Amino acid sequence: MNARDEQKSAVPEAGPTHKWHHPGRWGAVIIGFLAFTVISATAAVTLQDRIFRRPVEQPIKFNHKLHVEDNQLGCSTCHEYYEKETFSGLPDPDVCAFCHSEKQGDSEEEARLVKMIADGEALEWKSLFRQPPHVFYSHRRHVLVAKLECKTCHGDIASTTAPPTRVTKLRMQDCIDCHHQKNVSTDCTTCHR
Ligand code: HEC
Ligand code: HEC
Ligand code: HEC
Ligand code: HEC
Ligand code: HEC
Repeated sequence: MNARDEQKSAVPEAGPTHKWHHPGRWGAVIIGFLAFTVISATAAVTLQDRIFRRPVEQPIKFNHKLHVEDNQLGCSTCHEYYEKETFSGLPDPDVCAFCHSEKQGDSEEEARLVKMIADGEALEWKSLFRQPPHVFYSHRRHVLVAKLECKTCHGDIASTTAPPTRVTKLRMQDCIDCHHQKNVSTDCTTCHR
């Protein structure tokens, strides 16, 4: 039983002693109206998410291609947890400081980073792939146990030269399609705990 179920069962049931037991025609109108409101509100939020949301800006315009392909850094240099934990992690400044406590090149963006590191500023990366809290997902399970490649789910981020600016996370159907294909459970409670 999850927290939400517990909450529900804590609410006393509306027993047959209630006067307005039969909702009748007005009840139907009100329920119809509520359903309409909920559906349009959901549609509006989804649309806003997909189309109108302002592009996400990261503290530094990080270049995956330059680090992964040109400088041969493995993903785990900066995302250190995917073999042990549910999450992968985003890098702290001291990971970058390993090289950028001193200037490596002439780019302005790097100069800004070197200064941030010297000033002891935090790098507050925003995660675009993050799922809502009701979804359970584990990197360890998919990367280490199922041996899936990062790009199966994250696309070719290793060859991009700037951070993604739009929400690109997996939809429920993406998870379910692969689970079907690989004979993994698609019970609701597999992913919603
Ligand atoms: C030198 C450090 C570094 C290396 C190496 C690196 N990354 Fe990243 N990665 C970052 C930083 C910083 C961010 C956050 C900014 C951004 O989105 O570009 C990030 C973001 C991401 C994100 C987006 C996460 C989100 O929720 O928005 C994915 C996915 C990702 N990296 C995958 C990879 C993969 C796959 C590899 C190996 C092929 C890799 N990274 C190698 C530093 C690195
Ligand atoms: C193992 C060393 C190493 C690590 C760790 C590293 N970098 Fe770099 N980075 C480099 C090198 C080498 C360059 C290329 C410098 C040049 O030639 O301009 C570079 C270039 C850059 C640039 C300029 C890129 C451009 O597109 O012009 C930025 C910004 C940058 N790194 C950010 C980061 C951030 C943020 C981190 C930590 C998440 C990080 N780096 C970690 C080695 C590293
Ligand atoms: C089966 C699909 C799948 C694979 C394979 C996968 N990821 Fe993810 N990744 C996700 C999902 C889903 C999230 C969002 C998780 C959440 O919010 O709980 C995510 C989130 C992330 C994030 C955001 C920050 C965080 O702490 O988790 C990074 C970085 C990341 N993945 C890197 C990687 C790297 C590197 C690899 C390969 C070693 C990889 N992922 C393989 C699905 C995948
Ligand atoms: C490309 C294929 C693929 C995608 C996409 C994928 N999965 Fe999976 N998932 C697997 C495989 C294969 C396993 C079985 C791993 C093992 O052998 O334990 C698995 C296992 C799991 C498990 C553990 C199942 C159990 O029985 O305990 C959970 C939870 C899970 N996935 C959640 C998700 C979620 C949430 C998403 C989407 C955000 C997702 N998966 C996307 C392939 C995938
Ligand atoms: C393999 C993983 C997986 C399984 C199985 C799964 N879900 Fe989901 N579900 C997700 C993910 C990931 C999201 C969040 C992304 C999204 O909204 O598409 C989600 C979102 C949802 C939402 C919220 C939708 C919204 O718009 O906010 C509901 C409700 C839901 N799931 C119900 C279910 C029910 C009911 C079942 C069983 C029939 C089920 N899920 C099975 C992965 C899964």
